[in-house]
Amino acid sequence: MANPYVEEITQQLAALTEMKAEDLANLIETPPRPEMGDYALPCFALAKKFRKAPNVIAKELVGQLEMGDRIADVKALGPYLNFFVSQGNFVKDVLEKVLTQGRAYGQSEEGSGKTIVIDFSHPNIAKPFGIHHLRSTMIGNALRHIFRALGYEVIGVNHLGDWGSQFAKLILAWKRWGEGELTEDAITIQTLLDLYVRIHEEIENDPSAEEEARAWFRRLEDGDPEATRMWEVCVNVSFKEFDRVYEMLGIDFESIAGESFYQDKMAGTLERLREKELLKVSEGATIVDLEEWDMPPLIALRSDDATLYSTRDLAAAEYRWETYQFDQLLYVVDVAQSLHFKQLFKVLELMEYDWSQRCSHVVFGRLRFKDGAMSTRRGQVIFLEDVLHQAIELTREIIEEKNPDLPNKDQIARDVGIGAVIFADLDSRRIKDVVFDWKEMLNFNGETGPYVQYTHARYCSVLRKYGKALPPESVAYDLLNEPETLAVVKCLEQFPVQIQRAAESHEPSLIATYLIELCTVANRFYNAHRVLSDQAAVAEARVALVYAITIVLERGLALLGMKAPEEM
Ligand code: ARG
Repeated sequence: MANPYVEEITQQLAALTEMKAEDLANLIETPPRPEMGDYALPCFALAKKFRKAPNVIAKELVGQLEMGDRIADVKALGPYLNFFVSQGNFVKDVLEKVLTQGRAYGQSEEGSGKTIVIDFSHPNIAKPFGIHHLRSTMIGNALRHIFRALGYEVIGVNHLGDWGSQFAKLILAWKRWGEGELTEDAITIQTLLDLYVRIHEEIENDPSAEEEARAWFRRLEDGDPEATRMWEVCVNVSFKEFDRVYEMLGIDFESIAGESFYQDKMAGTLERLREKELLKVSEGATIVDLEEWDMPPLIALRSDDATLYSTRDLAAAEYRWETYQFDQLLYVVDVAQSLHFKQLFKVLELMEYDWSQRCSHVVFGRLRFKDGAMSTRRGQVIFLEDVLHQAIELTREIIEEKNPDLPNKDQIARDVGIGAVIFADLDSRRIKDVVFDWKEMLNFNGETGPYVQYTHARYCSVLRKYGKALPPESVAYDLLNEPETLAVVKCLEQFPVQIQRAAESHEPSLIATYLIELCTVANRFYNAHRVLSDQAAVAEARVALVYAITIVLERGLALLGMKAPEEM
């Protein structure tokens, strides 16, 4: 724990309670109201150890703690021990840290030497681009930034859905209705989608079409050149579209290894399953029976020996372990696949891989549009790219209205429009369903991405007006003593802890919530106190604070994958 106050508190408590300072640090809370102090220790967790009521423990400890440079006062309040830190030092310690560390503030080395693999985004090629891939993309990318800030080596993997029977169906569809050879110039993603819908209808009415599709999939799995070539065309066409979206979002991957990548690795996986005597034949299919754990079986091979999504996931997990020796492997996938991941992790455990414990399903809820408000030019399917363009267009309209003379409008409309989408996705706990409401998410005064970006831009403009080098040379920290000002400093001090918590709980929303909180206390300060005035010392101290706010806002937005324009 980097915070010197918490360190002092927990060191003293550790000596008194014979508990570990780290464990105590995890118990420390921030009291809800300033008059209750700066930090609090709830004594419930100590009750068992000391066989005393928590309020008795709190009273006993108060008498034994020593006041000093950092701790100004301690009070027992019911079952809580409330600590008051010495303020002069507090402001100086926090701000000096932000100002000297700059953009590195909040970063740490705690993850150094450890690798985290994040499986995220993973859209399905030649299948309708599910809107849930938007969530996976945003959440996964934010986690990537968050873990990287903590010094982890992060491997973002795009496990593209680029293998499976849907390709055989597309090939069949082209064979039936396509004109000439299937080439990249002959089709668009829309054609693929139309073909996909059409062949599905066909298969429903005509079982022989289903048979034919199966035969194509067999050819594909056997490496037949014609099937492979056609498959490749579909992949390339779709990927070009995805790439545009990734570019707009500023996202890249350390590894793009889709399902097809495991084509030659599944035989080995099946072999190992067989060696562990985990495979069974049931109704012609090869399965791993999971009845003992109250789950349906994991199907490893279909009755026609075709591989499945699960088979590829088993091979992928093994490959990732071999390749990265990860500390954690995170699958950022929507809640609909919870059972799939339970089965997957159970089978890995049955294969006696102790690293199966390091795998987690980072689950998230659904996303929908309020009143079907996403009008799309392309029919029922919602394309990610259309969503982003719509956000940019709407932002552009707002800017035209609010600030028509803004230079660089296009870029800012992009940064803010896309930022609004990202923030709306990330600002509540990921398990919750998200409803996109354009009006709400683009509201510059609501709890939105544009609000955070706007607050940042506003303080940047204060700094521009100040006009001198930043941070100011000598800062009289003791002038920063009003309650609104202290509230900001306290919030700034929380940033590193919030990053750690977001990483621990795989919850980028903690950063989003934190940013809203920071904007709220910052604006309260700003409304109560004039920053630039002719009282030079006061002005410089406040400028230092404003500068620190812009640093943390910019860094926080970056963790979520958002830009922080300096003007808007
Ligand atoms: N492409 C899949 C889908 O859209 C998600 C892939 C998730 N990752 C994985 N390793 N299974 O359903």
